Amino acid sequence: MKRIQDVDLSGKRVLVRVDFNVPLNADGRITDDGRIRAALPTLRLAMDAGARVIIASHMGRPKGKPVPELSLAPAARRLSEILGRQVRMAPDCVGDAVQSMAGRMGPGDLLLLENLRFHAGETGNDADFARALAALCDVYVNDAFACSHRAHASVAGVVEFAPVSAAGILLAREMDYFNRAFTDPRRPLAAVVGGAKVSTKLGALKRMLERVDKLIIGGAMANTFLKARGVAVGASRVEDDLLDDAREIMAAAGEKGVRLYLPVDAVVADRLAPDAATRIVPAQEIPAQWLAADIGPATARLYAAALSDARTIIWNGPMGAFEMDAFSRGTMAMVEAISGAHALSIAGGGDTSAAIAMAHAADLFSYISTGGGAFLELMEGKRLPGVTALEAAPAGGPALG
Ligand code: 3PG
Repeated sequence: MKRIQDVDLSGKRVLVRVDFNVPLNADGRITDDGRIRAALPTLRLAMDAGARVIIASHMGRPKGKPVPELSLAPAARRLSEILGRQVRMAPDCVGDAVQSMAGRMGPGDLLLLENLRFHAGETGNDADFARALAALCDVYVNDAFACSHRAHASVAGVVEFAPVSAAGILLAREMDYFNRAFTDPRRPLAAVVGGAKVSTKLGALKRMLERVDKLIIGGAMANTFLKARGVAVGASRVEDDLLDDAREIMAAAGEKGVRLYLPVDAVVADRLAPDAATRIVPAQEIPAQWLAADIGPATARLYAAALSDARTIIWNGPMGAFEMDAFSRGTMAMVEAISGAHALSIAGGGDTSAAIAMAHAADLFSYISTGGGAFLELMEGKRLPGVTALEAAPAGGPALG
């Protein structure tokens, strides 16, 4: 995979695919600009090299036609504020008007294209749309790790038509950290997997068994494992159709010598609400009408002890409903245990990064991925179409076809 540092950008029109799919409030204001900031190293490198920097992103999930509320204009404004220089906003992402704006750019100028998903060709990975995007540039750079699991035109298809393609700094960094954790990691390697559903993490859990020394399970998904072991979990959320999968995972862990940890106690509540009545009980004593909303303090200590000798830790998914104060202790305890371990610590997923941000602990992790779905797909052992496309990209010069 060619990297942006390997390409001469001077005077070139460089199309950078970023992920500016940032959260907006009801007034259309950006509430978290982390993804915009994550793209800065690549954008600055291109600007400093004297490139004409054309930036492309999606925002939300419009279905192939313009939705004014999903315009990237707020991102252009925020990027201008951060960089202290004008970022022009294009009225579209392809077409004559955009071509002519791109043609008038000078070295170091920035132009943000309008939401790619206003065109159906983006998610359809349509060849004509990909060709139209490629026609804007001399060099294509993918810096959108969080979108690289999507075989979309601006992520995958465009590489076939762009004269030169390379990975941006963020994308390369994400892949480097992930590979460090998974290819020849320092051991013990521990995976901490939480979140609401086993179903969304089933592939990752199975794949983890092939790699890790310890598998630590928390969040509502732990209820399914507890029930599969014959523990009565009251009114806790359980995926009954996945009980057999949970049993298989536990059996496979035993066969492979992977140490698998489940909660030994829980914070239970009479309902999932900030003002619910709560109690701490052993996992075997969850009252019939109550539900487990967080791991309990004994589990937090057990998990911290299990992580204390880990040399590599990968974390995806909170331990409970951490957005509510009453159910945040378990997840906060994991932030402390993982960030305090003498280990390469990598966290991924929107909820996990939000929990780490809540604890002001981002600086204490080795790496926090910007990816949600993309990070999970790597954990599942899948190859990302955006990365595969770059690996297969022509070495230089115009692509055929
Ligand atoms: C994300 O938020 O994970 C990325 O921006 C990808 O968005 P998508 O799930 O709508 O493709």
